[in-house]
Amino acid sequence: MLKTVLLGLSRSPLVKRAVVRFPPTRRVVQRFVAGESIDDCLRVVHELLAGGLLATIDFLGEDTVTVAQADRVTDTYADLLARIAAEGIGDRVEVSIKLSALGSLLKDGYELALDNARVICAAAARAGTTVTVDMEDHTSTDATLRTVRALRRDYPWVAAVLQAMLFRTGRDCVAQTGEGDRVRLCKGAYAEPAEVAHQAKGAVDRNYRRCASILLEGAGRPLFATHDSTMIEHVSAEANRVDRATSSYEFQMLLGIRADEQRRLARLGHPVRVYVPFGTDWYAYFMRRLAERPANLMFLLRALVERPRKKRVTSGF
Ligand code: FDA
Repeated sequence: MLKTVLLGLSRSPLVKRAVVRFPPTRRVVQRFVAGESIDDCLRVVHELLAGGLLATIDFLGEDTVTVAQADRVTDTYADLLARIAAEGIGDRVEVSIKLSALGSLLKDGYELALDNARVICAAAARAGTTVTVDMEDHTSTDATLRTVRALRRDYPWVAAVLQAMLFRTGRDCVAQTGEGDRVRLCKGAYAEPAEVAHQAKGAVDRNYRRCASILLEGAGRPLFATHDSTMIEHVSAEANRVDRATSSYEFQMLLGIRADEQRRLARLGHPVRVYVPFGTDWYAYFMRRLAERPANLMFLLRALVERPRKKRVTSGF
């Protein structure tokens, strides 16, 4: 119930204005977002790399309503990838993109988003790294998978994201088990209707386990995006069952969530990639993190009554 309300509010411009201007929110946001600039973000990324982790960087922005905005997002990714190339970290740091940020919601938007995604993939190829195309709500699933297929013709390493909450995902997994297919499996962060998606956590978890097994039995490189210990245990057990080397799949988690578990898995020899968002347009991303875990809402409410702490130097907030 609270989850649905928070996800609904994540789309409200009125609430957005109030939340974004509210100083205590900004202190909480620092836990999940690596600052506003490329410099802020790369500082956080270098800390993760020093701890044996990998990273995928997301430049926040889902409210692209003009071509000029879509171009600005694309240029920012190109600048970021040039820095990744210059710093020689392309073997451990990739980028995640959202087609809505690249213009997909405009008129003829998927063509525009595909062109912009191609620019980003070319910059990623120069940096020796890869790109993952995030999945948004179910109305965009077909168009997003079509875009991934188009990108893979030139850049076969482009990763798709599939959401276990959708009924269709078992079939989508089966279609993505070819040699070299990179697929991130997550539970799904959007409020979806009962016609297309499991509503109960137990059903989503069951489908996650089923889809994880399908991907591990295939020949691709599965990327398991979850903080859920039960899912992590299932993946490890299934990887053993099908005789998979730990280097042939990844665990992925979000910045600021279960950092101890990220380091524990990395110490055991698993590739662990942290999703690092940065930028000023953090509202919708932040609200989805609150929706996933109401305890984070308490964290925010506590920040309201605490005295402001010293500002972290690495953050532009
Ligand atoms: P679940 O929500 O069941 O949580 C399990 C446990 O993890 C909780 O009990 C808690 O301990 C911890 N936890 C989870 N979320 C937390 C939070 N916000 N704060 C604190 N603790 C938390 N979704 C999508 O629709 N499209 C996408 O492209 C992506 N991409 C993506 C990339 C990466 C790297 C990750 C980790 C996640 C995504 N997601 C996503 C989000 C995903 O769909 C899902 O909403 C969250 O990962 C939460 O689901 P869990 O699997 O962690 O399980």
